[in-house]
Amino acid sequence: MTTRILTGITTTGTPHLGNYAGAIRPAIVASRRSDADSFYFLADYHALIKCDDPLRIQRSRLEIAATWLAAGLDVERVTFYRQSDIPEIPELTWLLTCVAAKGLLNRAHAYKASVDKNVETGEDPDAGITMGLYSYPVLMAADILMFNAHQVPVGRDQIQHVEMARDIGQRFNHLFGKGREFFVMPEALIEESVATLPGLDGRKMSKSYDNTIPLFSSAKDMKDAISRIVTDSRAPGEAKDPDNSHLFTLYQAFASAEQSAEFRADLLQGLGWGEAKSRLFNLLDADLSEARDNYLRLIERPADLEDILQAGAEKARKVATPFLGELREAVGLRSFRSSVQSADSGKKKAAKGARFVSFREDGQFLFRLLSAEGEQLLLSRGFADGKSAGAVTKALQAEAQDYEIRANGEGFDVFIKGDDLAVASTPTFAAQSEREAALTALRLALQPKSE
Ligand code: TRP
Repeated sequence: MTTRILTGITTTGTPHLGNYAGAIRPAIVASRRSDADSFYFLADYHALIKCDDPLRIQRSRLEIAATWLAAGLDVERVTFYRQSDIPEIPELTWLLTCVAAKGLLNRAHAYKASVDKNVETGEDPDAGITMGLYSYPVLMAADILMFNAHQVPVGRDQIQHVEMARDIGQRFNHLFGKGREFFVMPEALIEESVATLPGLDGRKMSKSYDNTIPLFSSAKDMKDAISRIVTDSRAPGEAKDPDNSHLFTLYQAFASAEQSAEFRADLLQGLGWGEAKSRLFNLLDADLSEARDNYLRLIERPADLEDILQAGAEKARKVATPFLGELREAVGLRSFRSSVQSADSGKKKAAKGARFVSFREDGQFLFRLLSAEGEQLLLSRGFADGKSAGAVTKALQAEAQDYEIRANGEGFDVFIKGDDLAVASTPTFAAQSEREAALTALRLALQPKSE
C-alpha cells in the first residue's frame, strides 16, 4: 500500500534557509521512501490571494521551482507541478465551495485575524478582505482532495486548513457518494524532528520578520547574513551557552552529531562568536554549494523548467481529469448524450440488452460485459475456475451494490468491495466526454434486471 504525500508552497517569495530546512529538505527525503507517492506543487493560485504584483509572482514561481530541483527532487519519482496548470483544481474548488459551510470558513484563523484587526482599529469588519482570503481553505481542500492525499506535511499554522479539507470532503462524500467514499480523509503531518529554524534575531526565520538567511543567492550574501546573527556580548575566551544560542541551533540543523558535539564543546571552551560564525558559514557553504550551482544553472534556463513543469502537469492530470469526471457525474453535471439513455425507457433497454459473455483463455476463466449494441463495456481479469468468475458476474448484477468503480488513467476498474485486485476494467478513452458516456453506460448495464 503506497502513501500519497502532498504539499504545496505558496509562490510569493524567494526560498530561504528556513523554508529549505523546514519544508523542502524533509519533503525530498520523504519522497525517497519506497512506499511514498509524492505530489509536490507550487501553490500559485494561493499566491494571488496575498500578492498583486505579477512580476513578483512570476519570479517566485521560477525560484521555488528551481529550488526544489536544485535540492535534489527527482521528478521521475514524484509528481511536481504548478497548481495553475491543473484546471481541475479550480473546478473542484467550485464543487466544494457549494458544500462548504460558511460557518466553517468564518472560523478560519487567517480570516478571523484580519477581521479582529479591523474591529480593533475601528474599521468595517470586512475592510480589505477579499473573497480569495475568505475562500483560501476551500482552494486548499481542492488541492488535497483532488489527489486523495493521505498525508499533508505542513507547518502548524496550516493544521486547521487540513482539518477543514476533511470536513468539506466528508460533506461531499455524504451528499453525493451514495455509499462510496470519493475522498480519502487527509492527515496533517507535522514533523516534530524538524525544528523551526530560528532567524538572525532568534525569532522564527521568516520573511515577515526580515531575519532570513538566503539559501542560493551567493556565498557572499550568505556570509553577510550570518555576520548579522545576534549573539550575546561574551568575549572570546568566555564560556558560551550553546543551548541559549540560536547560532548553535542553526549549526545543528546542518551538522552531523559529531560536528555538533565538537562545536558545543568549543563554545563551552570559549570559542569567539566571530570564529563561531565563520564555522557556521563553512558548514552551510559546504552543504549547499553544489545545490547552489545547480540552482544558478537552472534559473538561467526557464524554458527547461517550463518543460519539466508541463510534464508534471500532464502526470497530475492523468489522475485529476478522470476523477473530476466522476465528481461532475456525481453532482449531476452529465453529458446530455448519456442522459438521453438514462431517461426511463432507455434505462430499461440498456439494462435489458447488456449481457455477460464468458470465455476461456490460457486455462483461465474470463468474462466480458457487452452492451446491447455489442460494445465491450468490461473485460474481466482471469479467474482460476468458472465458479469464481460466475460469482463475480453475479455480484455485479446483484441488488445490493457490492462493487465499486474507480477511475484508472483513461478508463475505469471495477472492484468487489474489500478486494484490492480489480475484477474487471473498461476500455480506455482519451476524451473525457467518451469516458463519461462509458461510465454511464456501464452503470446502466449493471442495474438489476428486475427493475
Ligand atoms: N497554504 C499553504 C501554506 O501557505 C500552501 C498550500 C496550498 C498547501 N495548498 C496546499 C499546503 C495543500 C499543503 C497542501 O503553507
